[in-house]
Amino acid sequence: MISTGEVYAGLTFPEAPAGRPYTFINMVSTIDGKTVTGTDQEPVGDLGSQVDHLLMRRIESAADAILIGAGALRSTPGLWYPKDKWRFVLTRSGELDYASRFFTDAPEKVGVLAPADVSVPSAHLHLSNDVAATLDKLRNQLGITHLLIEGGSEINAEFLRLDLVDELFLTLAPKIKLGNCLPTYAGGQPLDRQQVQNYDLLEHHQVGSELFLRYRRVQS
Ligand SMILES: NC(=O)c1ccc[n+]([C@@H]2O[C@H](COP(=O)([O-])OP(=O)(O)OC[C@H]3O[C@@H](n4cnc5c(N)ncnc54)[C@H](OP(=O)(O)O)[C@@H]3O)[C@@H](O)[C@H]2O)c1
Repeated sequence: MISTGEVYAGLTFPEAPAGRPYTFINMVSTIDGKTVTGTDQEPVGDLGSQVDHLLMRRIESAADAILIGAGALRSTPGLWYPKDKWRFVLTRSGELDYASRFFTDAPEKVGVLAPADVSVPSAHLHLSNDVAATLDKLRNQLGITHLLIEGGSEINAEFLRLDLVDELFLTLAPKIKLGNCLPTYAGGQPLDRQQVQNYDLLEHHQVGSELFLRYRRVQS
């Protein structure tokens, strides 16, 4: 076991590829793989420990930008990020609370990835929800080199299916939730056997009974 001080201190990543940012997901799950403690409409602040919350901020500080799904944002209305970070939300409906801190803290640093016919306040960037095309734009027009995706389960699956994720951070919280229909690290449609993705374990840390795992995609 090591002290919290050493975990993810001075986190570094490889350089970004030409057509998109270097992309990593961070999530916390129970031992049985669930990523919520209540329903999927509710916040999950009680899933990870205070150490997990601290490490989440450390991982955020190593990114230029954070992207989340509309479900994650609706479930956690007080969600905030440091004002110097770009923050993006992926939505089809556009049903978002534009009065929440996610939008008001740094309006000029907000991007809404939504279909063209969705109305987005002019204070924010309106980007396409074609995620591959938009990642190219983030890299080549906004200069974003390192992008953190913080869930939820549905949007993680969208990026993983397209094989656009370089690293996965997982906090394994020593809890059991149960439930067939609750979100996991990534939902979506299953991959075929031939498409199952492999990852190397890059780092692992234990603090108390919690495990902090960092995986990198194996290049085929
Ligand atoms: N344990 C963790 O680390 C963690 C992290 C984050 C969230 N969570 C929890 O996970 C739950 C939310 O997860 P979730 O899987 O339900 O939701 P989610 O992945 O955050 O968001 C799903 C929403 O994203 C939008 N979306 C997905 N694909 C899209 C596409 N291709 N184009 C445009 N929009 C797209 C849709 O928004 P619209 O409905 O607006 O169309 C969809 O309803 C919450 O309970 C939250 O607290 C847990």
